[in-house]
Amino acid sequence: MYPIKRNRRLRKNDSIRKLVQENYLNLNDFIVPLFVTEGKNKKEEIESMPDYYRYSTDLIKKEVKKLWQIGLKSVLLFVKVDPSLKNNNGSEALNPDGLMQRAIKTIKNTVPEMIVISDVALDPYSSYGHDGIVKNGKVLNDETIEILSRMALSHAKSGADIIAPSDMMDGRILAIRKILEKNQFHDTAIMSYSAKYASSYYAPFRDALDSSPGFGDKKTYQLDIHNSNQAIKQTINDIEEGADIVMIKPGIAYLDIISKLSSKINTPIASYQVSGEYSMIKAAAKLGYLDYDNIMYEQLVSFKRAGAKLIASYFAKEFAEKF
Ligand code: PBG
Repeated sequence: MYPIKRNRRLRKNDSIRKLVQENYLNLNDFIVPLFVTEGKNKKEEIESMPDYYRYSTDLIKKEVKKLWQIGLKSVLLFVKVDPSLKNNNGSEALNPDGLMQRAIKTIKNTVPEMIVISDVALDPYSSYGHDGIVKNGKVLNDETIEILSRMALSHAKSGADIIAPSDMMDGRILAIRKILEKNQFHDTAIMSYSAKYASSYYAPFRDALDSSPGFGDKKTYQLDIHNSNQAIKQTINDIEEGADIVMIKPGIAYLDIISKLSSKINTPIASYQVSGEYSMIKAAAKLGYLDYDNIMYEQLVSFKRAGAKLIASYFAKEFAEKF
């Protein structure tokens, strides 16, 4: 009780603050999302994500070398698929020589130690911009996981270390685990987007990949923003189906989910600070409303405080360069 207990004692200078500091940002925990596009010598800025780029596979080599050099050890790949290759079944996703497959191989050949995580979902390949096969205006579940598991296998064959299904179909973790085991990919891990919300924060990402849904929204498969129990239930479900890492997405707006989960599970939790969260900070900084570096740092720390082990963030590279 005051004045015996004075909380400010442990804050009186930087050394003592550091002595009692509970959470740290460590480059080992970061995942760098990378956008890949067809062509040669292409580095295209994404309009709604200032300072973030789509790279052609030749330039991806330079980028991953640089990331490795500054201490970043894992990348999460997304591809921008040529519109002529899109159809309802997303069949291009299974092309052994498709853009994703080539990107995985290129990165593993360039920096073999780099952990390559591949996104598994149909939306960049779907003529409807949905994460699954569409029939009579509905996104089909079981037919979709059939394709997703073959897509996952194709990524594993190309050399992916971790498969990251972001589609939110039911049963896909088990289906993917089964096909990987059957084909001897025992060491290929699965990072499940186990709690992915039907969020408006994804808009700049959909710009980046030209993957907005052609009709409706994603609310029949992504989580309802009003709920947290479903997120907990589905995450535990995905762990039971074989997920090695679980992911919560978006990031800042869903710290409560990370916090609740971290008191319940022992599986590593990843947070994904998504495109809209990145763009908001960029925009505010451009207008001079916020201190960019400090806000970036403060938001990244909040993931750790909430209980995340891994952080996927478009700020990863800037963080590594600045802090
Ligand atoms: C697609 C996918 C999305 C994101 C990652 N994978 C968008 C969506 O579900 O519409 C969003 C990432 C971001 O906004 O940074 N399966």
